[in-house]
Amino acid sequence: METYCERCRGTGFVKEEGGAVSLCSCRFSLKDTNRILGIPRRFWDAELDNYVCENASESEAFKEAYIYASSYDPEEGRGLTFIGPPGVGKTHLAVGVLKKIYREKGVRGMFFDTKDLIYRFKALIEVGRTARAIKTVLNLPLLVLDDLGSERLSDWQREMISYIISYRYNNLKSTLITTNFSLTGEEKKDRRIRKMVDGLELPKALMTDRLGAGTVSRIYEMTKVIYMQGRDRRRRSL
Ligand SMILES: Nc1ncnc2c1ncn2[C@@H]1O[C@H](COP(=O)(O)OP(=O)(O)OP(=O)(O)O)[C@@H](O)[C@H]1O
Ligand SMILES: [Mg+2]
Repeated sequence: METYCERCRGTGFVKEEGGAVSLCSCRFSLKDTNRILGIPRRFWDAELDNYVCENASESEAFKEAYIYASSYDPEEGRGLTFIGPPGVGKTHLAVGVLKKIYREKGVRGMFFDTKDLIYRFKALIEVGRTARAIKTVLNLPLLVLDDLGSERLSDWQREMISYIISYRYNNLKSTLITTNFSLTGEEKKDRRIRKMVDGLELPKALMTDRLGAGTVSRIYEMTKVIYMQGRDRRRRSL
């Protein structure tokens, strides 16, 4: 990988002669990492290392994100879905995972706000440049779909999202999703996750209503679903 650092093996730190530890020079190319991964300016400083846990659900989400990034294997097609209210750090964690995997495994994923990605695809289709550009994105080893389902979707947009999810599901490509929506509304009865959501107040709005049961079913299988709760960090006074 072009900017994967052999010197510090992606850790960001090097041992000097005499044993002192210092920052590796690759840390200074942080800006390039953010650009390469398509990370929006607001999240350039977001790292797993500076995610602060204030409750059990945030600690659990951080732990899952960390384990996922450390054990990431691009062949497996596993992903994560962060679900929760605004401002708990879902996007922050997804960005942190994307960067850690890039630095430590040399795997180059990309971040997209989902709405923005759909508009870009639409623009590409309109100018007749579909196949190559769209396939490049669909085939990324790691794709962040931020804020999935956040807006009212037209039939065309829903179809496009369903196509992206199905493609990545069928081809074992890893996807990181963040969303404010519960997946089905049946979470508290679901054996696999009812322990995790016990005591949490889940978002009332449902992904099944937005994207349909087929897409949600695929998301369930291809990602580990992580429900979060906590303070809205954007409102500093809370
Ligand atoms: N636990 C945390 N530790 C440190 N910073 C955090 C944490 N949670 C959120 N932040 C910061 O607060 C801001 C909002 O977080 P973020 O955008 O990740 O929230 P979100 O859960 O994705 O919200 P939304 O659902 O509205 O998209 C960001 O600047 C982020 O870096
Ligand atoms: Mg977000």
